[in-house]
Amino acid sequence: MARIRPVTKVSKELLGLLNDAIARELQVVVQYMWQHVQWSGVKGFAVKEALQSIAIAEMKHAEAIAERLYYFDGVPTTKPTPIFVGTTLKEMMAQNVKDEEGAIKLYKKIIAKATADGDETTVLMFEDILRQEEDHHDTFSTLLEDI
Ligand SMILES: [Fe+2]
Ligand SMILES: [Fe+2]
Repeated sequence: MARIRPVTKVSKELLGLLNDAIARELQVVVQYMWQHVQWSGVKGFAVKEALQSIAIAEMKHAEAIAERLYYFDGVPTTKPTPIFVGTTLKEMMAQNVKDEEGAIKLYKKIIAKATADGDETTVLMFEDILRQEEDHHDTFSTLLEDI
């Protein structure tokens, strides 16, 4: 089917970064969801709701980023980056803090590249997502301190 050409043209590099972002989002959707299922102990009980709601937020990110990539004629990846569920709560939270740090770094890079490409819409989208990832990072760091 013929696609309407987008007004904004962006670099291949930005499209590659968007796919990296999708792969990471898919990773954490599964990771947080299975951590939500495999929690244990009293502290796990306190964490399980946060894991579920953050997993759902990450799925919305994956969807929004894929829509943006597809708008530019890119094909969204179906392959997540390696998933690490962990066995203890401490292991889970430590991994999640790292993954949120990775997302924050990548999304800052995407904002810089989208700015250079003159793509304000992607900038606005990632500013919103970045705020949420900082919030996730804060949640997981606080939980990790308390385990
Ligand atoms: Fe996310
Ligand atoms: Fe996140």
